[in-house]
Amino acid sequence: MTFDLFDNLDDPGPPPEPLADGAMVLRGIARANAETLLADVHAVTAAAPWRHMITPGGLQMSVAMTNCGHAGWVSDKRGYRYDPIDPLSGQPWPAMPVSFRELAITAAGQAGFPGFAPDACLINRYEPGTRLSLHQDRDERDFNAPIVSVSLGLPAIFLFGGMRRADRPQRVRLAHGDVVVWGGPSRLAFHGVAPLADGDHPLLGRLRINLTFRKAL
Ligand code: SIN
Ligand code: FE2
Repeated sequence: MTFDLFDNLDDPGPPPEPLADGAMVLRGIARANAETLLADVHAVTAAAPWRHMITPGGLQMSVAMTNCGHAGWVSDKRGYRYDPIDPLSGQPWPAMPVSFRELAITAAGQAGFPGFAPDACLINRYEPGTRLSLHQDRDERDFNAPIVSVSLGLPAIFLFGGMRRADRPQRVRLAHGDVVVWGGPSRLAFHGVAPLADGDHPLLGRLRINLTFRKAL
């Protein structure tokens, strides 16, 4: 047990919690910088507002999304893709904030993926009751880079499955500041988020915000 009397930056924190080969949870590593991260989310959404994308099947997603970085993940009737232009504004996506990039690189390094160079960050906003069904992140060009996923605000149950959709997923509670990294043999693992339980978070109220960093291009 340590007390953070000195807010020790060298404190390695709890060890990574393995989920599968190449996948782990880094508990609380985004907590200390959460207010900066959220101010930067706010700045991104001023230029690239939250929107509910349409799936290729024509359904509106319950989770609100936006992006920053060189490319943004978009879904519409034509399919899923990374696009350097925000279709809503007709402008490039906002640049990836330094606070985001530094966290993503640090997390990837701690998880055993040095040299991560994220060029895209999808930002998801969950309200109580919203969910993300099981899927693989496979629209990126290069699967050598991991996915880094940062949880802020209300806790969620993250579903972490296997290589087949039918594999029963692990249910992992992710709290404010927790980061999940999956890469290597887990890079194409199915994953999703169970319907968000209601709550009241000191920084985000009734919301959960998730940042996922990818090397898309
Ligand atoms: C995602 O799969 O893109 C997001 C996962 C999450 O919100 O935890
Ligand atoms: Fe995903």
